[in-house]
Amino acid sequence: MTVLVAYATHSGATRTLAETLQDALRAEGLETDLVDLEESPDPAGYEAVVLGSGVRIEAVEKTAMSWARAHEGELAGRPFAFFSCSGSAADPAKGGRQKATDAFLAALCLTPVAVRNFPGWVLMDRLPLRERVLMTSLRTPTGDFRDLPAVTAWGREIAPLLRGGGTGLTAPLSRR
Ligand SMILES: Cc1cc2nc3c(=O)[nH]c(=O)nc-3n(C[C@H](O)[C@H](O)[C@H](O)COP(=O)(O)O)c2cc1C
Repeated sequence: MTVLVAYATHSGATRTLAETLQDALRAEGLETDLVDLEESPDPAGYEAVVLGSGVRIEAVEKTAMSWARAHEGELAGRPFAFFSCSGSAADPAKGGRQKATDAFLAALCLTPVAVRNFPGWVLMDRLPLRERVLMTSLRTPTGDFRDLPAVTAWGREIAPLLRGGGTGLTAPLSRR
């Protein structure tokens, strides 16, 4: 079976998580295609789908929302997992929750087989000037907060769920 690992990124962090996830799924024996949502991948050609999105201003990337809406039927008909990549996921006070993920899932008729909120990075040299100004004014902590071993572990965890032939309409088995 082939799994689509699709991602939406603004400053590149989500792509690095998606690449790490792809390596983990391949190590579990799954074939995978890694595709930027800018290329408008068609999920119909895949047996399972993982979507990753960066978070900005309390929302997933617009391309992630519009792509998921456009393909909601296909995503509901095959195992579907979602991960976010954000600044606040690095904050222990958030307990792994991410408003943007909750809002994204609430807007769609999908029950993923797995959901996870991973920390990304906030690197000023990857941001346009107006966003650097915004981050500075909000006193957003900067740095690379990624936990790639956690992404690898999640890949191992979800491989059997993606392989399992369940659909996006089944009860969530791995949600945080
Ligand atoms: C303009 C801007 C707004 C952001 N807003 C949020 C936010 O609302 N919540 C959050 O947790 N992280 C926020 N972040 C941090 C990003 O989620 C983080 O940089 C993440 O790694 C972005 O993923 P990407 O590099 O794939 O785009 C913001 C970052 C920027 C530059």
